Amino acid sequence: MAIKEYYTPTHVYFGAGAEDKVAEVLKANGATRVLVHFGGGSVKRSGLLDKVEKILSEAGIYYAELGGVVPNPRVSLVRKGIAMVQDDNLDYILAVGGGSVLDSAKAIGYGSYNGGDVWDFYCGKRAVEGTVPVGSILTLSATGSEMSDSSVITNDETDIVYKRGTNTNYGRISFALLNPELTYTVSPYQTSCGATDIMMHTLERYFHQGYALDFTDQLSFTLLKEVMKNAPIALEHPDDYDARANIMWCGSLSHNGLMAAGNANNGDWACHQIEHELSAEFDVAHGAGLAAIWGSWARYVLDVDPSRFSKLGEGLFGESDPVKTIEKVEEFFRSINMPTDLKGLGLDFDEEACRKAALGVTFQNARTIGNFKVLDTEDIFNIYMMAAGLK
Ligand code: NZQ
Ligand code: ZN
Repeated sequence: MAIKEYYTPTHVYFGAGAEDKVAEVLKANGATRVLVHFGGGSVKRSGLLDKVEKILSEAGIYYAELGGVVPNPRVSLVRKGIAMVQDDNLDYILAVGGGSVLDSAKAIGYGSYNGGDVWDFYCGKRAVEGTVPVGSILTLSATGSEMSDSSVITNDETDIVYKRGTNTNYGRISFALLNPELTYTVSPYQTSCGATDIMMHTLERYFHQGYALDFTDQLSFTLLKEVMKNAPIALEHPDDYDARANIMWCGSLSHNGLMAAGNANNGDWACHQIEHELSAEFDVAHGAGLAAIWGSWARYVLDVDPSRFSKLGEGLFGESDPVKTIEKVEEFFRSINMPTDLKGLGLDFDEEACRKAALGVTFQNARTIGNFKVLDTEDIFNIYMMAAGLK
């Protein structure tokens, strides 16, 4: 039995007004010169950025601003952030935004601390050996980046656009200020994408080979049911604190390792790899891409262990039929306006597109993916074909 690590050093402050603590927490962490990193403007429109910068100014904390992070964050902006940290002797990075901002902040932290080409860490050339510390004020419940060891960056500098993740304990940021009220302004589409991503971080871990701790399975079902209960409420009533708070905390716990604690390994993650190829090439939203793929993946791998699907169905729906379980999860995705095939995602894939994407996932046949079922290029091609309605 493999020994599983469960390591969550991130100091979480959760609840209405959590962002008010930003200066106090930064000071407690030794920050003196801060890079405030944010996205395309939502934090300006909501007034959050002004509020944060006023708190920093009043506390006498020097800061520099870098906005402009886009969904599927780009390495070009990361490089700009690294230059700012190095030239201006900044000693802390404060991410104010969603997962893309957090991931970009983590990349700036790695690049500033380690020197050299930051992309090395994402294409597997070098290991991260430290980071300029990162803290966050989260505005979107989805990726769990606020407690995860992961950062996912898109390389927009090459002819072929690559999206790659790197996992390291240096990616577990020092603090996360989680105020569910800051997610009231998230659009219905991003709310649904976020709910899907949160569910998928638990489902990816649930489907794995080898020992599964029943307590962890039961926690997984509880988390999934909470998201399925609260996402429709948040869509109907965007400012429902209870719904937003439950979704937010589920988002953090879904991806901090808890949902694989005690299990044989960290899970399958094939759907994430298959999705990342889509968001790299077509810039689709990560959560929507996952919903579009999951059902096809599930049907393709079902025979490996139908009992795992039955247990999930019983835990979620009181339904032990594995095929009906898959259908019910898909029904839920559709009920929150998520696509369950590539057409619904806006992608009209033919056989050639499926082949190209499958080769992209395996880095041109250089790797396999998955753990519940190990998938090679042909398997991934078949899954894309199913998702495209061609099989
Ligand atoms: O850029 P702004 O103007 O802030 O708008 C964003 C963006 O357009 C908007 N938004 C965020 N907070 C808002 C808001 N709009 C209104 N009110 C608010 N409070 O939402 C849009 C999407 O934001 P983004 O940060 O891209 O979304 P998400 O949090 O889903 O992050 C997606 C990225 O994270 C990666 C994905 O691949 C994708 O690149 N992932 C990161 C992971 C990790 N680090 O652990 C794990 C995931 O599996 C995932 O791969
Ligand atoms: Zn994800």
